[in-house]
Amino acid sequence: MTTNLISAHVEPFDTYNGASIHRYSLTNQHGLTVSAINLGATLYEILVPTPDGGTDNLVLNYPNSADYLANPFYVNMAIGRTAGRIGNGELLLNGQRYPLSTNEGSTTLHGGPNGFNSVVWEGSVTDYDGQPAITFTHVQKSSVDGYPGDLDVSITYTLDEANTIHLYYTGTALNQTTVFNPTQHTYFNLGHAATIHDHLLRLDADSHLAFNAQKVPTGDLIDVSATPFDLRSEKRLGDVIDDLAETDEKGFDDIWKINETNSGEAIATLSDPQSHRKVTVGSSRNGLVVFTANSFTREKMNFIRSNGQGQPYEGVALEAQTLPDATRHEGFGDVVLPAGESRTDEISYHVEF
Ligand code: GAL
Repeated sequence: MTTNLISAHVEPFDTYNGASIHRYSLTNQHGLTVSAINLGATLYEILVPTPDGGTDNLVLNYPNSADYLANPFYVNMAIGRTAGRIGNGELLLNGQRYPLSTNEGSTTLHGGPNGFNSVVWEGSVTDYDGQPAITFTHVQKSSVDGYPGDLDVSITYTLDEANTIHLYYTGTALNQTTVFNPTQHTYFNLGHAATIHDHLLRLDADSHLAFNAQKVPTGDLIDVSATPFDLRSEKRLGDVIDDLAETDEKGFDDIWKINETNSGEAIATLSDPQSHRKVTVGSSRNGLVVFTANSFTREKMNFIRSNGQGQPYEGVALEAQTLPDATRHEGFGDVVLPAGESRTDEISYHVEF
């Protein structure tokens, strides 16, 4: 008999468009909790214990389900079928062109208007290696998003006693060859400061992607050497934001190509010297988007941590994935899921506190 070290808890959260939304949580023996809601299979909290017996949440979150879709920032939501931007809203696959629904001018961003984030998922507590886990399931229909074929998707959250949260995304192409490149759009703020300026970020990446005026990758890689994009040694985000002050974006909204030599255990580390907390992101795929929330506004950004006073740089999103629009560019990686096949992509967050 296995002893359960991880405890699971389910409670009603609220309702969204008439659907009941629940919060599912897992807690380990060190007092680390991860919780998720079934609207958008959204990562709701990463709670760590504080010396006074309370908890601090290391990710941005809202009080209501409706807040998640009332803003365009995909806060902590599951993203798919494909993370990032697909040029001209047109998927190229095996010599065919598939028109997708668009949601940013002529571009398809984060799976389009009916992507994974817009879905009310079926949630349950499941068993993973003898420990409780949270699983969200959904069949994404071709008729809804325009991608070829129906895709059966499950997203499983697990937590272990080494303080690592694992997210497993499994896609099964039910009737046609399709593409699958999911991510979780998690925004971290590890400490008590209003913004992430004092956080340190390190990435195992020698290059980042060039993109056009629509932020769609051109296929070219840019060497990070001697630029603000060189995060091979950790950098303070506030310094990078200052370096980019004269750019349109005024911070990062960029895509790095993870070095092929990376083992998949640690593609990025984010730490906060003030609170002494650190998150290490694991992924065996070759891309990472870093978005320093440059365009956050007060309007609609009803974050719990700032009492409804959202602001630029309040969090930093780290989005592990295969490089976007991969079917268009040689060397961007393989996101194709042949008919009848399944694939699981994993993202992990190892938390030190
Ligand atoms: C990022 C994307 C940004 C922005 C953000 C969500 O992945 O690169 O441009 O759309 O998601 O608001």
